[in-house]
Amino acid sequence: MTILGIETSCDETAAAVLDGEGHVLANVISSQHTVHERFGGVVPELASRAHIQNVDHVTRRALDAAGLTWQDLGAIAVTQGPGLAGALLVGISYAKSLAYALGIPLVGVSHLEGHIASAWIDRPSFPRTCVVLIASGGHTHLFHADESGGLRLMGRTIDDAAGEAFDKGAQMLGLGYPGGPLIDQAARKGNPVTVRFPRSRVRTGQLDFSFSGLKTALLYHLQRMDQQAITRQQADLAAGYQEAIVDVLIRQTFAAVRQAGVSALAVVGGVSANSRLRARLTERAGEEGIELGLPALSYCTDNAAMIAAAGQRALEQGRLASFECEAMPNCAL
Ligand code: KG4
Ligand code: ZN
Repeated sequence: MTILGIETSCDETAAAVLDGEGHVLANVISSQHTVHERFGGVVPELASRAHIQNVDHVTRRALDAAGLTWQDLGAIAVTQGPGLAGALLVGISYAKSLAYALGIPLVGVSHLEGHIASAWIDRPSFPRTCVVLIASGGHTHLFHADESGGLRLMGRTIDDAAGEAFDKGAQMLGLGYPGGPLIDQAARKGNPVTVRFPRSRVRTGQLDFSFSGLKTALLYHLQRMDQQAITRQQADLAAGYQEAIVDVLIRQTFAAVRQAGVSALAVVGGVSANSRLRARLTERAGEEGIELGLPALSYCTDNAAMIAAAGQRALEQGRLASFECEAMPNCAL
């Protein structure tokens, strides 16, 4: 059935429509970057206010772009969490009223379930049994996914998420916010071996990640330089820092693939938009004969197509739609 997805967990107000076969008919994202950039990060109160201003108009744009009317919708999926409580409540309240007024089912999904579902958008035949790396602003998690959609946690970050490492690094390098795309861009003009940063290993969990040491290494490195030198070497520093993050992601992810004994790997979440990571993953997966599921760029960072896709799968698997759906700011998978 045709499904509308709504996503308001952080700083993007997004709405998307998928048809009954899972094809994306519309995917509209209204970014709040200009609202938050002068604060160097997302301000929860401002995020909620911006969602209130945008959610109806973004949803109507998605419906228009899909060439549909309200009556064509068969169900609504909305992000329940994890995310900012006030921001989630905006999307959930809006989705509830809409589902109630239209008399159609409402299904709440986890934001992480959404990121995972993005691997199958436009690629329905990608194997369900695979390793999934979610690398975003709040998560760096490795899962072993099975045929029925079950997930077994294989490893996770013990401190910062990969996206957080990008964002904090960019701030230290004077590149601004959001950091990931800015480091990605700056690094293209730099040499990744001019400055070598540490690649942390975690003693306790073989497949866990740690990025806080890398962040501290950058801080100490910059403290030994004057501002002019930092500006002059910004591209090399960005490239070296990015390479350290990418190396760790590749090392742990392919170790997980070996350990799980699977032949397919999905890499999702905002950091999967990183051009260097995409190139390195493609190369390595090719060498090892692993089928790689990388979402198109518009489905890597937060979007509602992935929420609609997760909602569709949840309904297919028999999850009951319910108006009891509440915000779950700290929910895990
Ligand atoms: O999935 P996402 O949009 O939101 C969360 O669920 O957190 O991920 C956002 C994160 C941010 O930390 C952002 O800097 C990072 O993804 N990101 C990137 C790139 N684009 C977004 N990191 C590296 N390279 C990129 N091109
Ligand atoms: Zn996300």
